Amino acid sequence: MSIVSVDKISFNYENSGLEIIKNVSFKAEKGEFICIMGPSGCGKSTLLRIIAGLIKPSGGKVTYMNRTVTGPILGMSFVFQDFALLPWLTNLENIKIGLSLLDISDEEKDARAKELVERFGLSGFEDYYPNVLSGGMKQRVGIARAVASEPKVLLMDEPFSSLDELTANTLRSDITYMLESKSISVNSVIMVTHNVEEAVELANKIIVLSEKPSHVKEVKVVKIGRPRNKRSEDFIKIVDEVYAAIAK
Ligand SMILES: Nc1ncnc2c1ncn2[C@@H]1O[C@H](COP(=O)(O)OP(=O)(O)OP(=O)(O)O)[C@@H](O)[C@H]1O
Ligand SMILES: [Mg+2]
Repeated sequence: MSIVSVDKISFNYENSGLEIIKNVSFKAEKGEFICIMGPSGCGKSTLLRIIAGLIKPSGGKVTYMNRTVTGPILGMSFVFQDFALLPWLTNLENIKIGLSLLDISDEEKDARAKELVERFGLSGFEDYYPNVLSGGMKQRVGIARAVASEPKVLLMDEPFSSLDELTANTLRSDITYMLESKSISVNSVIMVTHNVEEAVELANKIIVLSEKPSHVKEVKVVKIGRPRNKRSEDFIKIVDEVYAAIAK
């Protein structure tokens, strides 16, 4: 059974009739890290929001563990490009939002949130508001909030693109480490990115979408072992192939 199945998804804006997504299908299996790439405006964010149950598709369906997704569900969490933290809540309280739908006691929520603070290197900042944090730390709060409910699937929309390269690199390694060491519950990731090197570093499957109405133009499987050396011949070859697929 696939964890997530995207089945012939289409989306158009009813008022303008503008067709954004046309017949997109793919599956995310357990342990997969999928990157979605494609030209700006082709509907990547829309597709990810449809998968999350935040937008209703015009056609097709998304299933999570064989159940049709009709709205947000606990098994899939979202990480936003601009962090989407609530400025009037402390960092600890922001993380606790991720726990709000769980049927556990307040004490347990407190304990879990504090544990996440430590795991994500935010100790000392829990009682401050997000405005005191650097971009990298804000995104740590964003990811901690997303994994708090112990989802199986993480949906990330350009999560590192507003960070400087050094910070982005650290966060990529942290995420890879957490996935491989199974220190978080997540076992499948679907991530939108514009960064080809990032996709080849992280993904085992890269889905290249066309201009809108977007459809799957090409699926690249990345078979390089981990940790991946960005300077290796294999790595550079796949980077070139993905660039070519996008430009085609
Ligand atoms: N309310 C709306 N009515 C009509 N079209 C819209 C509306 N909102 C967004 N769009 C269009 O939907 C398309 C898909 O948007 P989306 O944000 O999903 O693209 P994207 O691939 O994530 O882009 P980017 O790479 O820039 O993040 C865009 O072309 C956008 O102009
Ligand atoms: Mg987008």
